[in-house]
Amino acid sequence: MNGEPTLRAAVIGFPVAQSLSPAIHAAAFAESGRVGAFDAIECKTEDLSGVVARLRNEGVIGFSVTMPLKEAMLGQCDTLDDSAAAVGAVNCVAHEDGLLVGYNTDGEGCCDALEAVGGARLDGAIAVVLGAGGTSRAVSVSLARRGAKVVVVNRTQVRAREVVELVRKGVPRADVRIGDVSTVRGADVVVNTTSVGMGTVEMPCDPSLIDRGTVVLDAVYHPIRTALLEAAEARGARCVDGLWMLVHQAKRQQEIWFSSAPQTGPMRDAALTELEARRQ
Ligand code: ATR
Repeated sequence: MNGEPTLRAAVIGFPVAQSLSPAIHAAAFAESGRVGAFDAIECKTEDLSGVVARLRNEGVIGFSVTMPLKEAMLGQCDTLDDSAAAVGAVNCVAHEDGLLVGYNTDGEGCCDALEAVGGARLDGAIAVVLGAGGTSRAVSVSLARRGAKVVVVNRTQVRAREVVELVRKGVPRADVRIGDVSTVRGADVVVNTTSVGMGTVEMPCDPSLIDRGTVVLDAVYHPIRTALLEAAEARGARCVDGLWMLVHQAKRQQEIWFSSAPQTGPMRDAALTELEARRQ
């Protein structure tokens, strides 16, 4: 503790009690010697403008935004960083000189985790993104920004097409297309952004398609070792769990708020401790 004034930050969403953000960000505060509180504030979409006005008046340094508010938050910001504008969703707000600036760190957090934990080289890599929801949009935009050749694979084709169009609009030189699940074979990177495997042993693709040496990230982190990751690891793939993505997107948020990056180890440990405490 270095005696800085007390900082306030929060995560807003509905429901929010399950969010690991308070534990992760509190660990980052502690590790950086910051004195602060990180609250979880339950907020439905219809209450968003009131909650945002309150946070603004209370002088928070910023806040994280989770489901179902990421899109609605676009209209509450005074300005949008490119990261949020290109994806069409906000997961982090910084209160800068009285203005609320909207960012999106989900995709960059995913790419950081692929590189830092999985050892992936994204520039020129063939990256298959399974799913075409909000997480896919953020991840696909960031992968394209880092020079990956992005293939979007989804059960519902029209949604995959929407992601491809969004990436082309946000990243002018993007190499992005729709693919089918067979493109997993030979991919350098595979990211599961579907909800398949959440609390079940289902897998979003046939794991026999996964090559040795492919880096596989599963955005699902309940369980932390999903069936996909277990099967991919058994095939010699390098695996990155969704908790790493969560921690890296939080690290990016800390960088936005404080212009310095915390270590990810204590943030991950705090998330694991919190999950363990909830199991008891
Ligand atoms: P998020 O915003 O968290 O990314 P979402 O918008 O609900 O979540 O998207 C969920 C993704 O998981 C979608 O791509 C969905 O596929 P569809 O667009 O075809 O609905 C995918 N998904 C969910 N359940 C699935 C299943 N059983 N099989 C295949 N894909 C599934």
